[in-house]
Amino acid sequence: MASDLEKVIRAIKAPAEVCPVCGGTGWKTVPAGSGTHTDRRVTRCDCQLRARSHSLLVAARIPRRYEHCELASYAPDFPGAHPSLGLAHLTASRFVEEYDPRDGTGLLIIGKIGTGKTHLAVGIIKELILTRGISCLFYDYRELLKEIQNSYNATVQTTELDVLRPVFETDVLVLDELGAVKPTEWVWDTVSLILNSRYNDNRTTIITTNFEDQPAAGVSTSLSPARAATRGETLGDRIGERMRSRLHEMCRIVTLDGADFRQKLRSASYR
Ligand SMILES: Nc1ncnc2c1ncn2[C@@H]1O[C@H](COP(=O)(O)OP(=O)(O)OP(=O)(O)O)[C@@H](O)[C@H]1O
Ligand SMILES: [Mg+2]
Ligand SMILES: [Zn+2]
Repeated sequence: MASDLEKVIRAIKAPAEVCPVCGGTGWKTVPAGSGTHTDRRVTRCDCQLRARSHSLLVAARIPRRYEHCELASYAPDFPGAHPSLGLAHLTASRFVEEYDPRDGTGLLIIGKIGTGKTHLAVGIIKELILTRGISCLFYDYRELLKEIQNSYNATVQTTELDVLRPVFETDVLVLDELGAVKPTEWVWDTVSLILNSRYNDNRTTIITTNFEDQPAAGVSTSLSPARAATRGETLGDRIGERMRSRLHEMCRIVTLDGADFRQKLRSASYR
């Protein structure tokens, strides 16, 4: 009987399954053009594209709870759906089709809780990975700031650069729930460093937020004193006015209105 260790060693030494199309070379020949002549050209085999998509998907760090999110599974027009969902879905699909790595314009997806912001953002990057082979990275805003802060801790093995390098370098970054961390000088400095560097390098950032795209307290003049007293916190309050106006330069705005989709599902299943 082979020991477990022997089995492992045998598995490692066994030749990997060889692709029947390219015989493991990674290249295949295809007819060139559509004519009847017999010209052929060499192109990357699909097994290579699949392997690349797979490693890009792993590197994108999409949390398990959002793995199901795809543009195709986003319903823009269920009964009672707010019209803004259809427009947002169209904008997201166009964004994928028209994505150009030389143009850093991103999306700022704004909406109340459960309107499908994260679903759309994840749907976009999954499609960019699978159909275009673009490198993408998903980060929850709180998680990213926590990881950077942890890297200052001497007992933790990661450095600030380990955390930030992929954030700076990925082609498309999703920053989910911008503003969800209590704003401090450090938070503002860190977030502006990240967003400004990406913008200056023409890299695309897709941002979601629950906060209304309104100025910081004290800046707005359009609210009556009564409304100003009861106003909720705004994006301006949470990330600062300078960063908010920078986001307007960096991103196209997508607004989602309507009810919380999770509540909707719950009430539908009780019917
Ligand atoms: N239009 C839709 N079609 C299909 N599924 C949807 C739709 N909108 C939301 N969902 C689903 O509802 C759940 C909540 O959506 P999502 O997490 O994207 O909302 P959110 O706006 O990011 O909410 P939060 O503000 O809490 O972060 C997810 O499981 C998502 O897949
Ligand atoms: Mg979300
Ligand atoms: Zn192959």
